Amino acid sequence: MKIPFVDLHAQYLSIKTEIDGAIASVIADTAFIRGPQVEAFERAWAATVGVKHCVSCANGTDALYIAMLALGIKPGDEVITTAHSWISTTETITQAGGRVVFVDTDADTFTIDPALIAAKITPRTVGIIPVHLYGQACDMDPIMALAAKHGLWVIEDCAQAHLATYKGRQVGTFGNISTYSFYPGKNLGAYGDAGGIVTNDDRLADWMATFARHGGKGEHIMEGINSRMDGLQGAILGAKLPHLRAWTEARRRVAARYDELLTGVGDLVLPKIAPGRDHVYHLYVIRTAKRDALRKHLSEAGISTSLNYPKALPYYPAYAYLGHQPSDFPNAYANQSRILSLPIYPEMTADALAAVADAITTVF
Ligand SMILES: Cc1ncc(COP(=O)(O)O)c(C=O)c1O
Repeated sequence: MKIPFVDLHAQYLSIKTEIDGAIASVIADTAFIRGPQVEAFERAWAATVGVKHCVSCANGTDALYIAMLALGIKPGDEVITTAHSWISTTETITQAGGRVVFVDTDADTFTIDPALIAAKITPRTVGIIPVHLYGQACDMDPIMALAAKHGLWVIEDCAQAHLATYKGRQVGTFGNISTYSFYPGKNLGAYGDAGGIVTNDDRLADWMATFARHGGKGEHIMEGINSRMDGLQGAILGAKLPHLRAWTEARRRVAARYDELLTGVGDLVLPKIAPGRDHVYHLYVIRTAKRDALRKHLSEAGISTSLNYPKALPYYPAYAYLGHQPSDFPNAYANQSRILSLPIYPEMTADALAAVADAITTVF
């Protein structure tokens, strides 16, 4: 049985009429860049998250970059973030002129350990970027308390955490600004690159919309960049949005079934959810000392897996200049050779799930 890591075609087939209609509407309107479909999605996404504004943009990486510039980052400013994320979180700090300051994750959740942040705050620190990695909300209360105490801004990187909550409140509503990726494989994914930036701050929203669209249409009040959402992506996201809650529940059911089938198997450590936090299972990531052998066995059995990510960020050549040692981020370092992301998607069948669990159990 061949089991993909995600099955975007199955999702398309489940809502084919809606998607085809959405695409046809953009072509009929020739609304290829921004346009009514994008504006409607911006309103719908802001309402879904529970914030005043959503500024659409070209992808989740630009969203971070634009957000940092909006908050007035200056050359040499330090930004604290997690050692375990996708590089968009940190490459944009550097590109915006800032300096990346890494903090280790906690032992259980793959998210930034708030207890380690205070020691990294210096007079040059301007902000914190918590990443709700794999779909689990970060421990936001201590992060927001530190930010308030030291006058720092917070940008939540919600690229993997659409609809996740912390103590009952949706992620994306804590930070000064929060950013989303709608990359095709994300929990809410377009059919190409797309991103969104949300905030309750009218001034920031206005600045980001202007900056992302060449500094203003007609009257360029400043120099900006071209980071616009395509009409097709806005229409597709708008068609998919009404299904997001049901898809999130389906992901949780897949995760719960994996939990049942894999508990007690070998040395497997299954995803752990910390108290007050919630998980939308963008990824279901297990840990084992036999990671490479297990991955090989699953691949031979036709089961696709992924490494998110092969290395913790400080240990990539891109950050060699910081000279970090394994002991600087022991949890993130240990995880890089132990993590394995299993297939998970809302349309995953019970048979496919059982086949993955069987194949894993065989190895132990
Ligand atoms: C944690 C995180 N931040 C930012 C991004 C950037 O999003 P995009 O691929 O839309 O640029 C991603 C996407 O993979 C991500 O996983």
